[in-house]
Amino acid sequence: MTENRSQWGTKVGFILAAAGSAIGLGNIWRFPYTAGENGGAAFVLVYLICVLLIGIPVLIAELTLGRYTQRNPVGAIKTISPTGLWKILGYLGVISGIMILSYYSVVAGWTIGYIFKTAFHQTSDFGTFIANPINEVFYFVIFLTLTMLVVISGVKGGIEKWSKILMPLLFLILLGLIFYSLTLPGAKAGIKFYLQPDFSKITGRTILAGLGQAFFSLSLGMGAMITYGSYLSRTTNLVSSATLVALSDTLIAVMAGLVIFPALFAVGMEPTQGAGLVFNVLPKIFEQMPAGTIVGIFFFILLAIAALTSSISLLEVGVAWAVDELKFTRKNATLLLTGITFFLGIPSALSQGASKFFTEISLFDRIGFLDIADFIFGSFALTFGGMLLSIFIGWKWGANKAIEEIKFGLFKESTTLLNIWNFLIRFVCPVIIFFVLLNIFKIF
Ligand code: PFF
Repeated sequence: MTENRSQWGTKVGFILAAAGSAIGLGNIWRFPYTAGENGGAAFVLVYLICVLLIGIPVLIAELTLGRYTQRNPVGAIKTISPTGLWKILGYLGVISGIMILSYYSVVAGWTIGYIFKTAFHQTSDFGTFIANPINEVFYFVIFLTLTMLVVISGVKGGIEKWSKILMPLLFLILLGLIFYSLTLPGAKAGIKFYLQPDFSKITGRTILAGLGQAFFSLSLGMGAMITYGSYLSRTTNLVSSATLVALSDTLIAVMAGLVIFPALFAVGMEPTQGAGLVFNVLPKIFEQMPAGTIVGIFFFILLAIAALTSSISLLEVGVAWAVDELKFTRKNATLLLTGITFFLGIPSALSQGASKFFTEISLFDRIGFLDIADFIFGSFALTFGGMLLSIFIGWKWGANKAIEEIKFGLFKESTTLLNIWNFLIRFVCPVIIFFVLLNIFKIF
């Protein structure tokens, strides 16, 4: 191990950090509103299939490449293919990470703002709150600074320590909220919308949204899991770790929907309202429920922390690249990339009403800078990156070579399971993603 290459402290620590990367705003903010916009239960079904057939195999593939090469995404790809164009895929990951971080931190800033809004019983609505440029930039900077501080303190002391205690708490509070939400009058209509699929609602757009959401939620397609895998030793079981991470991520997303949709229908709001969904609905629940202020404050704190354990992985990809490849110190790499992210995030922060231009700009059917950035980087780039990564790992490196690496750390070698992975990563993942991506261009 070189001086700059750290390792996870324990296996549990790694799993919690990887789950911490996966579980974040994607589960609690993005999943419910995307489901709401794409037909509810029909979307949930598509999403689950995407996680199973594509998400888990790509997650295993990324962790495997990372552990084998012990490098950031750019370095990992260069280790396998020193010449040629493949390394662009690594740079695409670094860029996507920074671009996603730029708007992710804006949304995470909203959750910090909502901690105070709940505590001080400010009744202004969400639209007014996010249209205020001072609020927007202030909370955005606070969140980005927290991300920077954790990343500077490194893998074991920063990322791992944070993830360990706080993820389980988030699970418990969601569980409590589900019970409350389900008892609200009118909750049934929400459950029906969320769990009873209307298959006629499945279109190319639903499938793209489901696939994009699977990549976003599992932190795939940009090398975050390559990077996390690179801090592993060969004693970790990659298949069971990946499965556990994917299951816990999916569980939290499904649970968030069980909180939101019953409550949404109980208060008579629209499921198709977009990015404000969670911030509009949840405060309504907290207002009504016993001890709602305390629960609300606690909830937004945990959500901000879940966002933090994800945002650090977005930044870590670029930092690991600058440390490994450009020989930066961890601190300088983090400072520089955070500074760049700050500038890139300003348009997103102002895109919620503060600046007319950034609010009204429209591209690919999306309106507002934040939404456009989320579509290009959070959906398209991750899905496209995921397709290229599955081709790179399945064909260029070779699924059989990857399997030799996967075998280290397995409890028991199951040839059938490994063959299934081999088939999924070489054929199913690239082909399905390719067709879904083709569909986008038709939609446009
Ligand atoms: N998976 C995170 C979430 O669901 O909030 C977001 C994310 C983190 C996406 C890291 C991509 C990534 F590489």
